Amino acid sequence: MENRKRIMAKENHEKKEIALLFICLGNICRSPAAHAIMQRDVDEAGLSDRFFIDSAGIGPWHVGDLPDRRMRQHGAQRGLDISHIARQFNAKTDFRTFDRIVVMDEDNYRAIASKASSEADREKIIRMSDYLLDHPAAHSVPDPYYGDGSDFELALDLIEEGCRHLLAAIIKEEKRIKKEDGLAVD
Ligand code: 4NP
Repeated sequence: MENRKRIMAKENHEKKEIALLFICLGNICRSPAAHAIMQRDVDEAGLSDRFFIDSAGIGPWHVGDLPDRRMRQHGAQRGLDISHIARQFNAKTDFRTFDRIVVMDEDNYRAIASKASSEADREKIIRMSDYLLDHPAAHSVPDPYYGDGSDFELALDLIEEGCRHLLAAIIKEEKRIKKEDGLAVD
């Protein structure tokens, strides 16, 4: 869709310009953490009214659950309230609702890409590892579920880094699009 129409349609429909969905396997460790971290970053940047943020899992095992207790505790030590209720990715509605679908690892990428029904859907899927600019050798946010405290700390470090760079990239891209379309840039 043409850039200007895309932005206007979003504004009319949801009053939000950018809808971001974070994905991991179970939606109880990495993606609810990314969801909370990005929401905090967006709030701190004064952009809450422009972003809609959510998270979902590939599997159904934890639907309805709070995030893993360990992730909630490690997050709380950083001042984060990680309290999303787990849900499963829904290809029919989520590809329509979200502009960008951010996966934590290559298994996630393959699972979500296999549900895409168009190139436009596929183009929405992006890797968190592409935003780990301070860790260029990292190819995923490793799953901490079977690990110990250090694995949860590493996951949170990488997610904080990825969210920071992803948000900066989105802001830059939205400014470029608006400028291209002759819309006011603030
Ligand atoms: P997540 O971690 O994908 O970061 O939420 C996992 C949570 C649960 C399971 C696997 C990974 N599980 O197998 O139940």
